Amino acid sequence: MERTLVILKPGTVQRGLIGEVISRFEKRGLKLVAMKMKQLTPEILDVHYAHLADKPFFNWLKDAMMAAPVILCCWEGFEAVKVVREMAGATNGRKAVPGTIRGDYSVSSQENIVHTSDSVENAKIELERFFSPEDYCEYPSPLDKYLYAPDEH
Ligand code: TYD
Repeated sequence: MERTLVILKPGTVQRGLIGEVISRFEKRGLKLVAMKMKQLTPEILDVHYAHLADKPFFNWLKDAMMAAPVILCCWEGFEAVKVVREMAGATNGRKAVPGTIRGDYSVSSQENIVHTSDSVENAKIELERFFSPEDYCEYPSPLDKYLYAPDEH
């Protein structure tokens, strides 16, 4: 099973969309294995968005990510990184296809509801950035046999 990071951005928290967004991942069949609310800092955002440091919107993005707390969550499932990324939709909410999270709740490139890890490798790095081993919960998944075939693990 793969694990991926989802950050519900400050705008999502302020707009009262936490439940809506989490519900989508639950209904899809992903398993929540860690979750916490956190106020992000400039230091952690400099690392998390290092690949965007030279972009003109970098400081606006950092301010937006610190405007209120975020919800950090780790979702687990077969090919979870790709599944979650496709559920989020295109970065720009105006271009995201209706039915995706951004396509349903966003009209912006910056205020686009969620961060999702973009590769298995980055998911591992990002999860280590925000979670400690003790943050993860191990619990049975009795519905797995209704979600997956035996070879889908
Ligand atoms: P990026 O990693 O390109 O996209 P994604 O979140 O889909 O993986 O960009 C990271 C964040 O940077 C994006 O979620 C919102 C912000 N951003 C802007 O504020 N303006 C922009 O024009 C772009 C491309 C991104």
